[in-house]
Amino acid sequence: MKKHTSNGEAHSGQDVRWGGAWTRREVFRVGLASLGAAAFGKFSVLDAFAVSEPYHHEDPWYPLHVPDETPPGTPLLTCARAQVDMGDGRLRGVWAYNGRFPGPTWVARTGDVVTTRLEDGLSEPTITHWHGLIVNYQNDGGPRLSIGPGQFYDYSFPLVQRAGLNFYHPHPHMLTGKQVCLGLAGAFIIRDNEEDALHLPAAPYEVPLIIRDASFDNAGNLLYNPTSSGFKGKFPLVNGTLNPMLNVDRGVYRFRVLNGSNARVFTLALSNGAPFTVIGNDGGLLGSPATVSQIELGMGERLDLLVNFSALAANQYITLRCLAARWDLIRFVGTGAAGTAYTAPPLLSTIPPLSGPPQPTRTFTFDGMSRINGQEYDMNRIDFTVPFGVTERWRFQTGGNAPHPVHVHGTHFQVVSRTGGRGGLFPWEGGWKDTVLLDDRETVDVLIRFDGYRGLYVMHCHQLEHESMGMMCNFEVV
Ligand code: C2O
Ligand code: CU
Repeated sequence: MKKHTSNGEAHSGQDVRWGGAWTRREVFRVGLASLGAAAFGKFSVLDAFAVSEPYHHEDPWYPLHVPDETPPGTPLLTCARAQVDMGDGRLRGVWAYNGRFPGPTWVARTGDVVTTRLEDGLSEPTITHWHGLIVNYQNDGGPRLSIGPGQFYDYSFPLVQRAGLNFYHPHPHMLTGKQVCLGLAGAFIIRDNEEDALHLPAAPYEVPLIIRDASFDNAGNLLYNPTSSGFKGKFPLVNGTLNPMLNVDRGVYRFRVLNGSNARVFTLALSNGAPFTVIGNDGGLLGSPATVSQIELGMGERLDLLVNFSALAANQYITLRCLAARWDLIRFVGTGAAGTAYTAPPLLSTIPPLSGPPQPTRTFTFDGMSRINGQEYDMNRIDFTVPFGVTERWRFQTGGNAPHPVHVHGTHFQVVSRTGGRGGLFPWEGGWKDTVLLDDRETVDVLIRFDGYRGLYVMHCHQLEHESMGMMCNFEVV
């Protein structure tokens, strides 16, 4: 395979962007093809986010879009092309769930039964995975369950887990990166009595922030042009909005944050240096709130954050930034109106610590861009079996090409150590996780137990080009 170093500034042709099923290697050929067709769009939005103009731009700020909500019983979930307005009034081509970008936010409670029929309205296979939901094999939406164009897949599963923010997106073999990048993704919020008892800020003071990067082609449509280091978009979108702004009252907001990027880790910070109060992550509430002023959020990871705007006067603003990309992600503009006060209690939840073996039960090395323990994904090979209900210690290591956000289907785990690299655990990695960021030179240990369902699940890197090229394995809980 040829190496190239484009950072995705070129635009590829229509056929490539909207083409049919791709082979594993074609993911890379697109990047190569795009080099030969370098042509820059004339969008002020794109120019404004050029690397040489960090943080500042002259473009207007558009009101943050908040996705529609959908209930646990949603009769039809269709994946198809759609035209959407990302804030600037122009219609842009995306691939969307039920015509929405991002897809509608599912809102349900523990104990509810989710029923829906997925319809493949694309011209290639798809299947939807409920990232973070503990469901059985038939409902997990793994690559073996893909359906073809015009086909349906019926889901029906109970919500057997605690409150939290989850993530739904396609998971077809080798096509996940492309389909997510072109727009197929959304949030899934579970609520429960434990969370209710905290009386956390509620809408309009609870706001989902689905953050990702994106690029446009010359016609202004979402573009998928990955390079050898994965898809890196030229600018950020929050809830599918360009240059988003949100008017905020003088009070506390609860932000439900999801990194929906294919290959970009966000380094979140507020422009005035004010802290975030982290109250939850992938698996729901933390045991206790943590105050931090900077957070590294890997692809597929989630956060539940409180931000206090009580000192923000009318028309003053602060922005949520990605320090690594030098991007303003969203601007919060003060209304001057009174909001709600909220102080998180010192104990949010009781997280029973898993106790497991001190030495790793299994070790997984994330190698190159497409292998785990030396092997690329084979849909028909079961790589290992795990006993149901037994706590194991899994060790994740890498030979390079990180960051690799390691994601396990079928359960949540507790992160117990990180050595090498960043050298420790971060406050937002407490509680229950389903995705943990593995950076170069790091060894990360997690304690993990499957007590939901027996059956076949996958573990993979959530750098979606790595995943789509084969950095994934099958295991069976028995
Ligand atoms: Cu978010 Cu297996 O995926
Ligand atoms: Cu990876």
